[in-house]
Amino acid sequence: MISKIFLALSFFANIFLIYLLNRKKIKNFLHLPKIKKVDITSLNQIFSLNSISSNLKGPKENTIVKSFSITSDNKIVGMTSDYEAWIISSLSKKSKNIFEFGTCSGKTTYLMALNSDEDTQITSITLKPDEVNFIKKENKDSKISFRNIKNESIYDKFLFTNSNVEKKIQIIFENSLKFDEKNFHGKMDLIFIDGGHTYSVIKNDTEKSFKMLNSRGIILWHDYVPGKKSSKDVVKYLEEISKTKKISHIKNTSLCYFQNK
Ligand SMILES: C[S@@+](CC[C@H](N)C(=O)[O-])C[C@H]1O[C@@H](n2cnc3c(N)ncnc32)[C@H](O)[C@@H]1O
Repeated sequence: MISKIFLALSFFANIFLIYLLNRKKIKNFLHLPKIKKVDITSLNQIFSLNSISSNLKGPKENTIVKSFSITSDNKIVGMTSDYEAWIISSLSKKSKNIFEFGTCSGKTTYLMALNSDEDTQITSITLKPDEVNFIKKENKDSKISFRNIKNESIYDKFLFTNSNVEKKIQIIFENSLKFDEKNFHGKMDLIFIDGGHTYSVIKNDTEKSFKMLNSRGIILWHDYVPGKKSSKDVVKYLEEISKTKKISHIKNTSLCYFQNK
């Protein structure tokens, strides 16, 4: 009898150990993403490729962009990957009015300014470092995402500060939950949602964005990563609204895409 109990206990202990070692993989497996993954070339025709030879395709002029990287040793928080940055930069080339939720270091803001026309207007809303003391966590909001808002609200000067494209950029230091978007209704060609990743903030920023978008406008959301703790609220909210809005997950990125048609 004792040996049977011992056998059962060691069986469960092994199962538990396997779970502990593969927690991440198991969680990813159990969370089947509800938003369809799509290659960027089929989402927007600017990304379609030129045929160079029978086995080689290359980019067209409208996706060749100005770019820069910051090495990880410099520990800038909240950055997009280089591939994501290329997609956003390419879309900026044809956009006259751009809005960003969440400036952080201003990496993406800078890229959008570098790649858009001279007369493009870029507005980015963000929290000042001292404003984070006044933000409130709603019941529905993930604790990790709330803590990340504090960790990422550390800049009041940006990568584009004193650059020759700074004149195109307007920074609004305000909590987006209090932001009155009426003056921007129907105006935006491109909106990048990468502010607070809590449920209440992502919902607020998305609802305002849909009102701010023009008839062909595009919204991109950052950090759709099913199974990742800090993306929990972004995933939850986007999957909820994807039942009524045609949202796609761009392959090999954490970006989601919507275009008014
Ligand atoms: C992930 S970072 C943005 C990264 C940036 N978009 C980039 O690509 O480099 C998040 C930013 O959102 C801002 N943020 C978070 N919650 C906010 C809120 N409720 N209102 C305005 N900005 C907010 C933070 O201050 C931080 O600057």
